Amino acid sequence: MIFKWKDNFSIGIEEIDRQHKRLFEIGGEIYNLATLKDGQDHYDEIIALLNSLKDYTVYHFGFEESLMEKYNYDDIDKHKQQHDKFIEKLVEIEAQDIDARQKKVILDILDFIVNWISSHILGTDFKYKGIVR
Ligand SMILES: [Fe+2]
Ligand SMILES: [Fe+2]
Repeated sequence: MIFKWKDNFSIGIEEIDRQHKRLFEIGGEIYNLATLKDGQDHYDEIIALLNSLKDYTVYHFGFEESLMEKYNYDDIDKHKQQHDKFIEKLVEIEAQDIDARQKKVILDILDFIVNWISSHILGTDFKYKGIVR
């Protein structure tokens, strides 16, 4: 299960690991909501999840970027570009008619977070492991 944290996901910086773990938690909540088949209205939960995801994203990216700046990390520009793309994608998701397209929106959010974890955290973030402390 992709939303289960494993020790080898650790980047070796306590605060970053804590923030990434929080993302895994949000991912688990999104997964649970996306796989519910109760035919009920989940608009309020979708909005709440989108809001916590957005707050988390903005906070975490800012935190990571200031650390990379502090250590003059070489690949900071490419890394920031990826962060910006994630924010753009989130803005696109939010711009849909969420109420009318609940299933589509929750699957888009799930896709967003799976992508973020598998390609960004375990790929791009790992490149600064040991360089940024
Ligand atoms: Fe990260
Ligand atoms: Fe990152």
